[in-house]
Amino acid sequence: MAVSFPKCPSSSLPPLQTRNRAWSSPLSAPHQVGDSSKWALLEATKRCHLSVSSATNGGSAVAPVEPSKKVQDSGTKTTPTDHSTKVENGIRPTVFSSNEFQDLKTGPDNSGRESTVSITVVGASGDLAKKKIFPALFALYYEGFLPKHFTIFGYARSKMTDAELREMVSRTLNCRIDQRENCDAKMEEFLKRCFYHSGQYDSEAHFVELDKKLKQHEGSRISNRLYYLSIPPNIFLDVVKCTSLAASSENGWTRVIVEKPFGRDAESSAALTRGLKQYLHEDQIFRIDHYLGKELVENLSVLRFSNLVFEPLWSRQYIRNVQIIFSEDFGTEGRGGYFDSYGIIRDIMQNHLLQIVALFAMETPTSLEAEDIRNEKVKVLRSMKTLEIDDVVIGQYKSHTRGGVVYPGYTDDKTVPNDSLTPTFAAAALFINNARWDGVPFLMKAGKALHTKRAEIRVQFRHVPGNLYKKCFGTDLDRATNELVIRVQPDEAIYLKINNKIPGLGMRLDRSNLNLHYAARYSKEIPCAYERLLLDAIEGERRLFIRSDELDAAWALFTPLLKELEEKHIAPELYPYGSRGPVGAHYLAAKYNVRWGDLGAEH
Ligand code: NDP
Ligand code: BG6
Repeated sequence: MAVSFPKCPSSSLPPLQTRNRAWSSPLSAPHQVGDSSKWALLEATKRCHLSVSSATNGGSAVAPVEPSKKVQDSGTKTTPTDHSTKVENGIRPTVFSSNEFQDLKTGPDNSGRESTVSITVVGASGDLAKKKIFPALFALYYEGFLPKHFTIFGYARSKMTDAELREMVSRTLNCRIDQRENCDAKMEEFLKRCFYHSGQYDSEAHFVELDKKLKQHEGSRISNRLYYLSIPPNIFLDVVKCTSLAASSENGWTRVIVEKPFGRDAESSAALTRGLKQYLHEDQIFRIDHYLGKELVENLSVLRFSNLVFEPLWSRQYIRNVQIIFSEDFGTEGRGGYFDSYGIIRDIMQNHLLQIVALFAMETPTSLEAEDIRNEKVKVLRSMKTLEIDDVVIGQYKSHTRGGVVYPGYTDDKTVPNDSLTPTFAAAALFINNARWDGVPFLMKAGKALHTKRAEIRVQFRHVPGNLYKKCFGTDLDRATNELVIRVQPDEAIYLKINNKIPGLGMRLDRSNLNLHYAARYSKEIPCAYERLLLDAIEGERRLFIRSDELDAAWALFTPLLKELEEKHIAPELYPYGSRGPVGAHYLAAKYNVRWGDLGAEH
């Protein structure tokens, strides 16, 4: 339903009651990637990449290969090498640097020697591996994005045979809805490339065994190795040490994807980074924040930097406030043990939402190279005002009965202490003290067990100065300002709320959405964030991974607040399971003259 404003004095016509928000037939056919030919896509992306390269790089079509690096740990241990392939301009919808493209297509590298990628999922028996990592690897394989020669190993303590791993993995694999062709055959082919090795996480001997198995598959090819640490953080360092000393590549690159949480505060995060760097170079460490791999978060920079109409407005001059909202309509069921020692601020805000703020607010990077983007992001984080307790509201969900169904409270979980004060909801007001954003509140809200599942960015613009149509808007001018909404999930969309005249002879104004609704515009399924990030890690593209200085800056913002909440035993405001969260969040917004956009008339 469109929101209608009060009658303009001159008008006598009824308001429009309904409005079709989606464009049912786009003006031009969307750019469709030919499903039938994956190589056509690769050729197309290669051409895009190379043509830009030649414009900006003196025509050099071949991406340089970093020299092999060795780091001595205490003078005795040798760390693995990383022959990372640099992406030349970073302009890649899904662009392969040219030598990787060649590798994917034909096998050999520039010297004519074939290479292979071995992907080891450490913690393969776990939840994340089953739910996200193996399905993402299969999706990449299915879409033709994995190199010609690849092997996938699962590693964990659980005893399992290769066949049992394949059986476990096969239960979560899915073909794209839009491409079910050869689904079974592809799955079978993929599963044949999956193997399992059981071992302890701190046993070099067990990683030596893994190394032997990897070598059998790699043969005489150049071996590139990717480890995905899908394990609890307390064993990250054991695994990194063992992989580094006993199972790193001898002639190719070795990279390690590290899952969050990266520490609990500034000190523990710095200690983890120091520990990792004993065995790895920073450029071998891929700290994953899967929100950076989400399609609409990726699109944020495209929207801003490739459309003239947005960038000039992207500042305190035109933007009143920015809201980054995350909500889930389920609780911490099954993950209570982990969650209770972290809480929503560490689980969602300090990483996923803060990364979105950094991308949203950064200055124009010099290029789309990873380091140029990360340099700009870190500047934003360092310019932010340290979060204070008065600018934060915390909540915890309690049991609620609806329609005869009892929804459990957070502390009803057996793995959570009865007197836990861990927040499952938080709202915060952040400020970026730089020339562009001075005084603009960046409001964040994240919660579990709320009334809806949603992640979105809302940009509320200022009033039109000396608004000619003031009389048509009634007394509430805030309802008449433009709002840009980037709905990250579900049902991805970007829409801009505008004011328009209701057709007819009178002068009545209405509020409508200019709507880019992804499902209506694109028939292709949107890849899961893990697909993009795994592919990037294989390609050596670091743009969407967190650099250690970004991490330090992020923790510096939140650590004093987290300490204060814990030391003062601040009790969270209780809210019923399935509600809109604590009332305190509204007062926090009101303090800065803001209204949460997700609770407005459209919802
Ligand atoms: P799990 O708790 O399922 O652990 C993964 C595997 O690690 C388990 O199967 C187990 O394998 C081993 N493991 C578990 N606990 C211990 C322990 N105390 N000591 C040694 N080994 C242990 O974790 P998830 O799969 O849920 O998550 C993996 C990582 O990803 C974590 O860092 C998590 O924070 C992060 N993450 C998870 C998300 C999710 O949705 N699950 C989302 C985002 C991040 P075995 O016993 O066979 O060795
Ligand atoms: C994870 C958090 O990082 O992100 C979880 O640990 C949360 O608590 C999840 O549920 C949400 O991810 P997504 O992609 O489902 O929105």
